[in-house]
Amino acid sequence: MEHKFTRLLVTSALPYANGPIHLGHLAGAYLPADIFVRYQRLHKRDVLFISGSDEHGVPITITAEKEKITPQAVVDRFHEMNKEAFRKFGISFDIYSRTSNPIHHETAKEFFLDLLEKKFLIDKEEEQFYDEQAGMFLPDRYVEGVCPNCGSEHARGDQCDSCGAYYNQLQLKKPVSLVSGKTPVVRTTKHWYLRLGAFQQRLEAYIETKSSDWKENVLQQTRSWLKEGLQDRAVTRDLTWGVPVPIPGVEGKVLYVWFEAVLGYISATKEWAAAQHTPERWKEYWQDDATRYVAFIGKDNIVFHTIVFPAILMGKGGYVLPDNVPANEFLNLEGGKFSKSRHHAIDVKDILEQFPADMVRYALATNLPETKDSDFYWKDFQAKVNNELADILGNFINRTLAFAGKNFGSALPARGALNQRDAELIAYIAGAPDRVGTLIERFKFRDAVAEMMNLARAANKYFNDSEPWKTIKRDPDACATTINICLQTVRSLAILFAPVIPFASETMWSMLNLSVPLHTEGWASSGELRIPDGHMLGTPSILFAKIEDGTIAAELEKLGGVVETAAVQEPEKKTMMPIKPVITYDDFAKIDLRVGKITACVPVPKSKKLLRLTIELGEEQRQVVAGIAEQRTPEAIIGASVIIVANLAPATLMGVESQGMILATHGSGKEFALLTVTNDVPSGSAIK
Ligand code: 2FM
Ligand code: ZN
Repeated sequence: MEHKFTRLLVTSALPYANGPIHLGHLAGAYLPADIFVRYQRLHKRDVLFISGSDEHGVPITITAEKEKITPQAVVDRFHEMNKEAFRKFGISFDIYSRTSNPIHHETAKEFFLDLLEKKFLIDKEEEQFYDEQAGMFLPDRYVEGVCPNCGSEHARGDQCDSCGAYYNQLQLKKPVSLVSGKTPVVRTTKHWYLRLGAFQQRLEAYIETKSSDWKENVLQQTRSWLKEGLQDRAVTRDLTWGVPVPIPGVEGKVLYVWFEAVLGYISATKEWAAAQHTPERWKEYWQDDATRYVAFIGKDNIVFHTIVFPAILMGKGGYVLPDNVPANEFLNLEGGKFSKSRHHAIDVKDILEQFPADMVRYALATNLPETKDSDFYWKDFQAKVNNELADILGNFINRTLAFAGKNFGSALPARGALNQRDAELIAYIAGAPDRVGTLIERFKFRDAVAEMMNLARAANKYFNDSEPWKTIKRDPDACATTINICLQTVRSLAILFAPVIPFASETMWSMLNLSVPLHTEGWASSGELRIPDGHMLGTPSILFAKIEDGTIAAELEKLGGVVETAAVQEPEKKTMMPIKPVITYDDFAKIDLRVGKITACVPVPKSKKLLRLTIELGEEQRQVVAGIAEQRTPEAIIGASVIIVANLAPATLMGVESQGMILATHGSGKEFALLTVTNDVPSGSAIK
């Protein structure tokens, strides 16, 4: 992949300053970005690495209300905490800014007004739910009700997690305000809408230029939005916390958090440039075609970075668009989703109190959710540290330096004639920078780390096979050659591993006592044998101490045994659904639940979400339409015995009649599960 670019701009999603960052965050958008950036810096490329706190949005105001403090107090606390956690973890941002900074407000307002003037933003009076008791309009997160599409309860204000439908708030049936618990009224309110449709063609063309470079998950989500046709999206909200709508006379309205958060990357760059006393330099990174912009994010942020942000940038004009958006999937924990409320999480600041950052960085890097969700298991972590970092990498370095200290007075012995084994290792080292580098360039960090460790493995084998403890007597020249090559390999490993375990790399470097700092040595130089003969080495120390079983047991204990499977857990960002009001037995008895056997199943034409099921109910046959096409293929469910609400009034979905509803858990990912019984229960059986 050749690029015409002369500089690199790298951003990591701005995490909400609404809680401590945990390992899931790191694995999604921060560690991969940091590995990428550190690697690029070793190439001495011009690279700028930007992130910061996303300090607006409804969840922050909800936290503030719960804790009876101001939103500013919430974000002040978590901004500092997270900034420090990233620093300790070695995430090498050039700046970690925050969206409550005045420069960000200015930038967001400037974009808003520019798009308004160009008529990419238009205002519309629309009806919205209003909570009379609380005296406020209800943003989508503050209201829930019955899904207008599939009838499931506790659907969110604008989206149903059950069937995936997006709709206008007012279509929600039986709406309830989550602020007061009361039924809201409908009032008219004015909002500004981004005319995404105006960018449809340009976005399509843009995405197609990326089709061979971008990750499949990113292309897929983006294309599916484009395929549905881009709609106007409201970019203002009736709230007081956020960037105020910059129009005279407009009060109590702010810019929608997603509209301005993405602009936070730009304002952070401005802040960085000002701090460097080169206030105009941000433009080099954002407004010059020679910049290659890479935006690291988690999978829940994809369309905001591949559609909404590019549309805003296109509308404003003169800005670079993301060249790549390498989104990761999610990291789970011990088989369950990270969940703050269930104490099923590992906060970065906590794990760093127990373990050096590099251990965590390495274990995560080998297990990044690059193509599918992955899991952090404490046992795995221990195995990665003990069997790989300590037994392979640490052991090789230690035995090499110890041997050189004891037998060569800590001076690098000169190489003599090379045997085949020597030549092979030297050739292997020579190829390493390219092998590893190509993988990093392609965002294949797991493979890149495996490749780094392969060199340490090869080096250990070389040490064993060369038997320097024997040749020291029998053939001192051969022994000197072995130890020379081993020490050169330590240097290569220090450079190659630097993007992943930067602290340990520095320690390796000082054990070698090299005069030029590691970061000034180029990446390519890791393929060369550069330490001069006679060079005096430093003092060796243990690079990675092994982790005891008891330590891991204690960590598992801290998770409180709350190890639920991902399949039954709520997604992290959703607030726990409140339990509905009490009903009597008679209310419940009105619902006729039956076991039904799925005998056939086909997709509903033109629908991405719906499947048409034929369900055997004793003697009877029913046709049921279910919004589960994104979660289950027809083949996967034919033959299953499911639970069906048999006396639900028929409804028509996409022109197909549905005579009942099958039961499933809420959600779309791993939290989705179809309720089934074993096939020996006869169809038609009643459930009570
Ligand atoms: O998902 C999140 O945590 C968002 N705060 C990410 C925002 S990324 C960008 F828009 F700033
Ligand atoms: Zn629904």
